[in-house]
Amino acid sequence: MRVLGIESSCDETGVALVGWSPTQQGRAELPRLLGHALHTQIAMHREYGGVVPELASRDHIRRVVPLVREVMQHSATTWRDIDVVAYTRGPGLAGALLVGSALAQGLALALHKPVMGVHHLEGHLLSPFLSADPPQFPFVALLVSGGHTQLMAVHSVGHYDLLGESIDDAAGEAFDKTAKLLGLDYPGGAALSRMAEQGNPKAFAFPRPLLHSGDLNFSFAGLKTAVWTQIQKLGDQAAAHFPDVAASTQAAIVEVLVRKSMAALAQTGWQRLVVAGGVGANAELRRQLSLYCQSQGASLHFPELSWCTDNGAMIALAAAMRLQSSVESAVLPGAFDVKPRWPLMARE
Ligand code: KG4
Ligand code: ZN
Repeated sequence: MRVLGIESSCDETGVALVGWSPTQQGRAELPRLLGHALHTQIAMHREYGGVVPELASRDHIRRVVPLVREVMQHSATTWRDIDVVAYTRGPGLAGALLVGSALAQGLALALHKPVMGVHHLEGHLLSPFLSADPPQFPFVALLVSGGHTQLMAVHSVGHYDLLGESIDDAAGEAFDKTAKLLGLDYPGGAALSRMAEQGNPKAFAFPRPLLHSGDLNFSFAGLKTAVWTQIQKLGDQAAAHFPDVAASTQAAIVEVLVRKSMAALAQTGWQRLVVAGGVGANAELRRQLSLYCQSQGASLHFPELSWCTDNGAMIALAAAMRLQSSVESAVLPGAFDVKPRWPLMARE
């Protein structure tokens, strides 16, 4: 079986092909990645300080067909070898999603093959299965992207319970907004963490919102206000303290993420934590989670850095795993349906 996956929900155009063959016992092996290609629009959006939806859609249109061709060529796959065409159905930018959906539907129609619309967050959740050391079910997932911060109980493919989430900004947003205050280019998360390496994480005691709330929810909106106030206080000297501000902001975000993840493990009684989404690329978060998980005797799984941020492989993989575990069947192509707002728990 071969599944082609197309991701176009935000500012990355990703295409990938995964494949698997049924084993002798009738159980399928984990899908293998056969090829992938990615184009990131970050440089294009940078001069505007954030993603411009209309530019994003137009760029997806320009990029997606050449990326599909590249994946087909590199994986020595013919059109006839494709069994299912998967695409990101939501959540994301409506216009951007429509590009991937339209191409997937058109391709499937031409090939007489079925389609599957994939939930972008499920792609992130299952992305650790692309790694050489995949986790086993069940596990707690910390999903930390530019738009979402959630703790999930992942029972099996398609069976997820929301344990807690951000009531305002996502962790990635907190990184990006603070980075902007420090004059770093969009999206500032990675740049802020590089700057933080030169600073003292204890220089400023920024708030750890909801740390003792007793639940697994997060709140990061107040952090940028605290950072902004601190920068005003520093006045003319502020720039000299930016590395300390960066390190202290990162320390605040990481501490809350780590403590709540540990609380989620305690609440479920499970011993496996999976981290997914763009902020999962943060080295300090990785270091702290490793330390805490080790001390709790829990195992920790990260997707490889290239699978943390948006990509086509996680979409092809999520579709393949849903097919394999029979939680969903691919359907005949038809409507160009996308769901810009689509809670993972309310799938239909
Ligand atoms: O998952 P993702 O690629 O896109 C969404 O679906 O949102 O996540 C992007 C987010 C951005 O906020 C970006 O600043 C953040 O991930 N990010 C990082 C790092 N690399 C990417 N945040 C902190 N440290 C990093 N090294
Ligand atoms: Zn994402």
